[in-house]
Amino acid sequence: MPMGRRTFLGLLAAAPALAAPGRADAAQRPPMSGSGCALGTCLEMHHLEIEPRVGAVVESGRFTRLTPEYSLQWSSFEPTEGRYRFAPVDRLVAYARHAGATVQGHALLWEQGTPGWGTPDWVKARLAEAPDWGLVRRRFETVLGRYGTAIPLWTVVNEPIETSDRADGLRANAFLRAFGPGYIPAAFETAQELAPGARLMLNEYALEYENPVDRARRRAALKLVEGLKSRGLRIDAFGVQGHLELAKGKLDRRGLGGFLRDLADLGVEVHVTELDVLEHDRTLSLEARDARVADTTARFLDIVLDEPAVTSVTTWGITDRLSWLRGDFAAISQEVGAEMHHAMNRGLPFDARVAPKPMARALAGALDTRLAAL
Ligand code: XIL
Repeated sequence: MPMGRRTFLGLLAAAPALAAPGRADAAQRPPMSGSGCALGTCLEMHHLEIEPRVGAVVESGRFTRLTPEYSLQWSSFEPTEGRYRFAPVDRLVAYARHAGATVQGHALLWEQGTPGWGTPDWVKARLAEAPDWGLVRRRFETVLGRYGTAIPLWTVVNEPIETSDRADGLRANAFLRAFGPGYIPAAFETAQELAPGARLMLNEYALEYENPVDRARRRAALKLVEGLKSRGLRIDAFGVQGHLELAKGKLDRRGLGGFLRDLADLGVEVHVTELDVLEHDRTLSLEARDARVADTTARFLDIVLDEPAVTSVTTWGITDRLSWLRGDFAAISQEVGAEMHHAMNRGLPFDARVAPKPMARALAGALDTRLAAL
């Protein structure tokens, strides 16, 4: 039985005191199957050096899906043409095996204009000069040649939607500018050819709330999936990132629930791939803040776990100390003092000292409800 209440709550109780990895424990647990909803996190191996308690939490076996936070992104993986950084991904793949987890590949293609994220400048410059699919194909060959069998699920295209860019709702990114909208089906086709056994996913953000933008984004995403399906392409999975934001107001139970059902009707499995919560008001007491974060997490999970097509929930990190929402990575290696503790965003299940927060309990409770219903 995957991750029942007792095991996960046991982890919550033990987490602050955990010092050594629980290896044997992870090895004895049955692997996560399709019968439950798996729990995952993003991770980089050097996080374990900065904060060894992260490893203790992962190795306790409750996080059975690991996504490299950035080391598989083209910009990190091949920052200069032909110079590959295999080591962080190799290490993560080996570590996942040891921890009894599977790896989610993220992402073959991601370009949305943010400097340093996703696609390196040299690729953008080359594509702007002359559209050469060979460049993209070589990345797919390198990445999938090395990890295509070790990693069973891949984000093929990340964040392709931007409804204010074009009438079709597609983001006018470097790939679209070079190849037109056909870059998306071409990416799925290439991935399918080079990793026939892998499951192929589209991953997107800002789909969760009750507002015209998120609504339009859901519509565009669904249209995109339908289009790929109607061309006979294999798209196995859709990733709802789940970057929740307290400033965005109400989660859209009907809209998001309906969207997930429509995906399920198309035969697509759904993963929550990057769950975290961006806070709005950091002047409140820690208790009040944590309660808000946990409450929105519970509401979100209540919506998504209602849909049986949702088979995993990955949080975008374990501890607030290493969360991208801090936006101040230079400070990460510093001592975690009381002040920083308060100023930091508190949108992950474990706090900066890797003690579980109400958000962790919300996750345990929701996943347990789901498991109990099986
Ligand atoms: C973020 C990482 O967390 C950062 O460390 C990195 O600098 C930029 O990317 N959507 C995604 C993730 O799909 O890959 C992003 O991760 C967060 C937004």
